[in-house]
Amino acid sequence: MATSSAVKCALKNGVAVLQISSPPVNALGAAVRAGLVAGVEHAIGASATGLVVAGGGSTFPAGADITEFSKPHLPPSFAEVMAAFEDAPFPTAAAIHGTALGGGFELAMACHYRAMGERARVGLPEVHLGLLPGAGGTQRLPRLVGADAALEMMLTGAPIGAERALALGAVDVVVPEAGLEAAAVELVTTRAARRAHAVVVDGFRDAAKRAALEARAALPAPRAILRCVDAAVGSELAAGLEVEGREFQALKATPEARALQHLFFAERACAKVPGVDAKGAAPLDAVGVVGGGTMGRGIAMCFLDAGLPVTLVDVDDTAAAAAAAGIDATYRRSSAFKKGRLTEAVLAAKLEKLAVASDVAALADADLVVEAIYEDLDAKRAVFARLDGACKPTAVLASNTSTLSIDAIADAVADPTRVVGTHFFSPANVMKLLENVRGARTGDGAVAAAMALGKRLRKTTVLAGDAFGFIGNRMLEPYGRECLALLRHRDVGVSNVDAALRDFGMAMGFFAMSDLAGNDIGYAVRTSLGLTDAATRDPAVEYSADVADALVEAGRLGQKAGKGWYLYEQPRVPSPDPAVDALVSQFKDGSPSVGAEDILDRALLALVNEGFRVLEEGLALRPSDLDVVWTSGYGFPRHKGGPMQWAEERGLRECRATLERLAAERPDVPYLRPAKLLVALADADAPLADWEKYV
Ligand code: CAA
Repeated sequence: MATSSAVKCALKNGVAVLQISSPPVNALGAAVRAGLVAGVEHAIGASATGLVVAGGGSTFPAGADITEFSKPHLPPSFAEVMAAFEDAPFPTAAAIHGTALGGGFELAMACHYRAMGERARVGLPEVHLGLLPGAGGTQRLPRLVGADAALEMMLTGAPIGAERALALGAVDVVVPEAGLEAAAVELVTTRAARRAHAVVVDGFRDAAKRAALEARAALPAPRAILRCVDAAVGSELAAGLEVEGREFQALKATPEARALQHLFFAERACAKVPGVDAKGAAPLDAVGVVGGGTMGRGIAMCFLDAGLPVTLVDVDDTAAAAAAAGIDATYRRSSAFKKGRLTEAVLAAKLEKLAVASDVAALADADLVVEAIYEDLDAKRAVFARLDGACKPTAVLASNTSTLSIDAIADAVADPTRVVGTHFFSPANVMKLLENVRGARTGDGAVAAAMALGKRLRKTTVLAGDAFGFIGNRMLEPYGRECLALLRHRDVGVSNVDAALRDFGMAMGFFAMSDLAGNDIGYAVRTSLGLTDAATRDPAVEYSADVADALVEAGRLGQKAGKGWYLYEQPRVPSPDPAVDALVSQFKDGSPSVGAEDILDRALLALVNEGFRVLEEGLALRPSDLDVVWTSGYGFPRHKGGPMQWAEERGLRECRATLERLAAERPDVPYLRPAKLLVALADADAPLADWEKYV
């Protein structure tokens, strides 16, 4: 039978078997779509009695080819592909292995039957890309599993395993992967009848659940999915498909879809460091952590969760034992443990891989050690000097620091090429982001090890240069300063600023976030820079953190003290505090009242402008890395794509013009002066993607 490079066809005992071959994930690009339609036509021409479609390599198609969304659409359309399978004159079946996602699962649903491998997963994750399943999924899934389950799968975007897929009726049989093709062939030969999709008659059975889902569906894609499922109920397939087609086209043009698709690629690009092969990094068989405080414990838990044996070293046996007990207690407090997903047996097996010690000599065999003691350069250097003597020469030595220089720490060891920064975010076992730091003398091997570590820990990993604040905290600094400066305006309080940021989509306002992190942290940094003392700071530069200094000096350290910018009568629940309003009122300077739009402009443009400086200074590999850092580590809304994508969507010329206006109004604020790179890109009307030409 005919063979295309993307879809191979073979006739086996009268049954046509189509195998898709488009690595890495068999995405349904134009060549695959054409090959599939041609495959069905060939099967018809060869008088096949049935047809099976399967994915070659590791997976059934994982969806449409996302890189094609921004290009003109090439035929055949998804609708034509699905119709070819659904309207074929013989029974068709999908043999599903790996991850059948999006258009891949939709292809399986357009077939009359589905056989699924035991380890496979199926799902419709389009909502995470700001889209809906546009190849018939919104119509065929409700017909297979009912409106409630279909809606839940499409709104969460979460794939499901074989057991659940079978129970819901999404697939016909589940078999071990080795018998998959045979099971699919059996379906088309023994059932031997085409099967049409029924009309969905039930609608939503669980009204409360539907109402809850509706309340959470604020963005365009979830709302459109709801409308499509409504259209599926009680109507013929063709009518529902028409609604779906219109809704899909409308979604493709939304800024949310652009932002989420930008992040999809950004989160994969950030793990790649030019010239460094993370796949070639030395294997990790055993790791160490120095410091059993909050960060050290969280980092040790990341290792345990990845199945790595870890030795945690603290100052003495009592502290080391307390760290081990703390780790055990944290697991037991987790919802996974309470809900039974983490069983006693699994926890015991995890903890068996944890050893504690009071001497770095216990780290002699570790391949990589993360130092996670308190932020003090001399103390960190002392630890590194001891590690230098205790660890094998090939061990990578990493520092978990958020403020100190990796180069300065590396001075403490004989071979600075093996020193790298691994900035985990707190709580380390929960937060997705890992900001690795390459010092001036860090070797490629240590960078590769740190990037491979991120992958092993299933973190979103970004590489930063070694300068104050790295990427994330460096950008946080002017953003925070601007939030503080806003408090000088009449009628602007802590709650107004936070509300504007939350309404924009930030997970937390700046002040609530500061309370969570501890207001004393920023205070300590400002003190070390001589800023908290009016006598030592530059009078020619605006200093808006005086109000934050006064807050800390009044003992309002944040959540841990029960009071900060907010009052915490219950743990973690902020409520406005008149005492803070009184404190803030002492710093008002007669500036006029400003509204939510100005608050956002000022805070976000300060953030973005610093992002351009980070790029100018070579501290990040690409603009999209900044977006990854801020969406994964600082609660920037994913549907805005990150600060740099937000700036591009708004228009770089417009960003520069607004910054110029703000800088003219407040010439004593350096961070508001438009960065050279922003000015150059705006002048040339060039896209951010061309940034390297303008640095
Ligand atoms: N289109 C284009 N490229 C894709 C892709 C897709 N649908 N899915 C994955 N890739 C690419 C990735 O960009 C990556 O490329 P690089 O190696 O160049 O970075 C490569 O394939 C491997 O991907 P991962 O690094 O993510 O590999 P993984 O093994 O960790 O995960 C996966 C595999 C679970 C399939 C994951 O890639 C994934 O979730 N993919 C997206 C699935 C999806 O969203 N499908 C819906 C598409 S939209 C749609 O189908 C619309 C419709 O209704 C018609």
